[in-house]
Amino acid sequence: MRFTGATVSVVLSFAAAATAQLDVSGLLSSLSPPNPNDPRFTQFKRPGKNDVRSPCPGLNALANHGFIPRNGKGNTIPKLVKGLKAGMNMGADFTIAIGGLGLLSADSPDLLTSFDLNDLDQHNFPIEHDASLSRQDAFFGNDYSFYQPNWDTVLSYFHGQAETDLKSASAAKYARVNDSMTRNPEFTYGPREYILSYGETALYLQTMADPFSGNAKVEYVRSLFEQEKLPYALGWRPSTTPITLTTLGQMVLELSAISPEPIPEGLTVTADGYKNVLELLVGGSEVLGNLTQGLSTAVGL
Ligand code: HEM
Ligand SMILES: [Mg+2]
Repeated sequence: MRFTGATVSVVLSFAAAATAQLDVSGLLSSLSPPNPNDPRFTQFKRPGKNDVRSPCPGLNALANHGFIPRNGKGNTIPKLVKGLKAGMNMGADFTIAIGGLGLLSADSPDLLTSFDLNDLDQHNFPIEHDASLSRQDAFFGNDYSFYQPNWDTVLSYFHGQAETDLKSASAAKYARVNDSMTRNPEFTYGPREYILSYGETALYLQTMADPFSGNAKVEYVRSLFEQEKLPYALGWRPSTTPITLTTLGQMVLELSAISPEPIPEGLTVTADGYKNVLELLVGGSEVLGNLTQGLSTAVGL
């Protein structure tokens, strides 16, 4: 089942009735910085045959370590807020905004209260898009599994360097756009895809390094994408500074400014652009507030 922002409000009363009241302030005040000695960092396990996964290497890795449900199912906003904080120091604002979008993709009995990771592979709504870094376009069949040839294109832009940098990362992202544009007769790409995809580049750079530099060890980034494993044994530790809509939006702006890619017509990229696109896609801040039982309002969205 698929919902747009406009139709969501109709079913919200059902969702509210089906859910116990959430302790918003209790949840937010329970969040503490990640503990670098959390045992889950060393408890990586590949998914089993009944487990489901997504087109998102970040969520898949967190599931493979048990920071979110290992079977990939029943991801509620509170579970995500806690798991993404403990595993990657993701700020609640990010998780609530993008998690709200995840709820819109849900096709399960817990409609609008949780989603399964494989719900996220719906093409072009609300998040999945063409020209991914490590997945094929839906036109070619499977838009959710890791796909080495596309990933090799991305890696080639780091020219064997030990660390990423903003310029190479943005050029690599643009190379994937050009490749899809050439080969995919149903290629879909505009302002939404532009912002989301730079957001995803910012996500791997910030989680594998820090929220500001863009300099992540390439071996950490490869572990995240290729094995969907947190590179703890290689020396990685979660960022000590939270990764928020503000830090991601700022890096989207920097990646866009440094990129050879033309900005889609009608789009002006600002530091708020990332947050605004997520809110727009969910149907506005009121819908997000209802979907997340007031959590989004409590974090200023
Ligand atoms: C509730 C939180 C999240 C949701 C609902 C979500 C959802 C998604 C979805 C649907 C995609 C596919 C987009 C595409 O077509 O490429 C995606 C891609 C991606 N996500 Fe997530 N994500 C979340 C959190 C994270 C986190 C914490 C990270 C941190 C590493 C992350 C990193 C990425 C990256 C790097 C991609 C791009 C993959 C590629 O282009 O091959 N995401 N995410
Ligand atoms: Mg995709």
